[in-house]
Amino acid sequence: MKSKLSLDQKYDYYERSVQNAECEVAFMHDEYKRARGHAPFSMREDFCGTGAISCEWVRQDKRCEAWGIDLDPEPIAMGKKRHHSKLKPAEQKRMTYLLENVLKVSAPKVDVVCAFNFSYFILKSRKELVKYCKSVRKSLKKDGVFFMDIFGGPESQKLVTDTKKLKGLTYYWECQYWNPMSHDCKFAIHFKDSKGKHLDVFTYDWRMWTVPELKDILKEAGFKKIVTYWEGDDDEGNGNGEFAPLDDPENCDAWVSYIGAMV
Ligand SMILES: C[S@@+](CC[C@H](N)C(=O)[O-])C[C@H]1O[C@@H](n2cnc3c(N)ncnc32)[C@H](O)[C@@H]1O
Repeated sequence: MKSKLSLDQKYDYYERSVQNAECEVAFMHDEYKRARGHAPFSMREDFCGTGAISCEWVRQDKRCEAWGIDLDPEPIAMGKKRHHSKLKPAEQKRMTYLLENVLKVSAPKVDVVCAFNFSYFILKSRKELVKYCKSVRKSLKKDGVFFMDIFGGPESQKLVTDTKKLKGLTYYWECQYWNPMSHDCKFAIHFKDSKGKHLDVFTYDWRMWTVPELKDILKEAGFKKIVTYWEGDDDEGNGNGEFAPLDDPENCDAWVSYIGAMV
């Protein structure tokens, strides 16, 4: 069945399935502090969607400010309704949505820029990704850090569907196309709720970049040091949601990781 979800349901299901703004903010805050020895206060969230991370960021401290950038008015409108409206008035003033293209945006210099949920995979050519990373570097202050996430492993290159059961909801992550020569790929998010299955609620046409490619690109863009973070294991050998710097992890079939690029 094609999606008949309301916009509220669409973004509620998405955020419950693939985002944890509190964890992302804690990760960036802690890792920035570990790297730089002091806390970050300003943050730009590229490809922000609803800007859930930016809204969480400004709740940390009255000195914290955030800018969320997205070129689609739909997630921004939903973010204003779902997150921004729930902030205190003083917090609302410190969080700004910009309906703009990250490749052209003009925003104040910040301590941290983040690009999460692999959104930069939309930039398929090396030239375009170098251009984007250069513009991020220029938008960072002296001690700035750019955080990105990435996923990979042989399992992520197969035409399979991962399933996750949540309260009243099943989330599906389907790899619909994979080109081993170009790493062009297509992914889709489907949901099932009490009304049935909602197909292709979100679809992605990406190039799956690799960690070594990204490290080269970030260096070419002028970042001085690149840190790769790896997820720890729980008792059953599954990811425990805690990430620490590591550059020679054990191989595994599917993984999600973070990269921190230091100015
Ligand atoms: C995969 S969603 C990620 C949303 C959010 N960052 C997250 O972590 O879930 C990608 C978002 O990037 C936006 N986007 C795509 N290309 C963009 C561009 N060039 N500039 C700004 N936003 C862009 C889309 O509108 C979409 O909301």
